[in-house]
Amino acid sequence: MTPALRPSLPVREALRRAAACLSQPVAEYTEPISCGVDLGTATCVLAVVDGTGAPVYVDQLPSRALRDGVIVDFHAAATTVARLKASAEEALGRRIEEAATAYPPGVGAAESRASRFVLEQAGLTCTELVDEVSAANRLLGVDDGVIVDVGGGSTGVGVYSGGHLVKLGDRPGGGHHLDLILAGTLKVTIEEAEPLKRENGEEYLRVLRPGIERIATSISILTEGHSASPLHLAGGALMLPGAAEIIASYLERPVLAYEHALLITPLGIAGRRA
Ligand SMILES: Nc1ncnc2c1ncn2[C@@H]1O[C@H](COP(=O)(O)OP(=O)(O)OP(=O)(O)O)[C@@H](O)[C@H]1O
Ligand SMILES: [Mg+2]
Repeated sequence: MTPALRPSLPVREALRRAAACLSQPVAEYTEPISCGVDLGTATCVLAVVDGTGAPVYVDQLPSRALRDGVIVDFHAAATTVARLKASAEEALGRRIEEAATAYPPGVGAAESRASRFVLEQAGLTCTELVDEVSAANRLLGVDDGVIVDVGGGSTGVGVYSGGHLVKLGDRPGGGHHLDLILAGTLKVTIEEAEPLKRENGEEYLRVLRPGIERIATSISILTEGHSASPLHLAGGALMLPGAAEIIASYLERPVLAYEHALLITPLGIAGRRA
């Protein structure tokens, strides 16, 4: 039986707090605050943390401005970020003038600069441009293990050994592909399949298993030579109940699943490690 490891308490606590301040800031926090924007294929998330790294405010909007990690609709991306910025300013009662952002592992330097321009177009000075895996690891603090960020469109993987990032890669495949499988099986539209998957995921696990195993195969390819390292699951796609167990038994390796895993990368972009 593959061990199911339990994430550390500070990380679980940070994620729990972040989920609790979704669209609703905490009453008290330590200055200075810092802001991060995760421009995803499925979701655009804005997170604010305080001077101690504790979550202050989180908000998200659906995003269709990216495909496979690349911005395909600049105007839509900037409009979404501007809306998130305005809501954050209203909720917090203060201006937000700067933010950090991130780019997926497979994206080159030139394309990653587009993320900076999106923030600027939305009225934010971009303080930092970091790869998504390093951002996620600021929160998770993994020295020896694998960060796996499975989002809407892609599976990003970073292997850490002795505290160093030794391998970084990305393959297509994520939550959207699970929606396609479910839509095809139930003969409904992708838009109808998406909430069914989120709300009754357990019920459809048997149908979605081949798609989850395909993501597992991508992880295996991207971690060649490091097949014993534990996997830390970030990103929304594997928040499906039972998905972590499928990955663990398919790959026969230890897996750590996090509640509110979708918030790991945004919190990491915004701040420091827990
Ligand atoms: N509770 C849930 N159960 C199952 N899947 C979920 C759940 N919540 C979100 N998802 C899925 O997670 C995906 C979005 O995850 P995430 O926000 O990490 O992606 P993204 O950052 O927008 O995409 P990418 O990283 O590929 O650019 C969607 O496919 C969505 O269906
Ligand atoms: Mg993402």
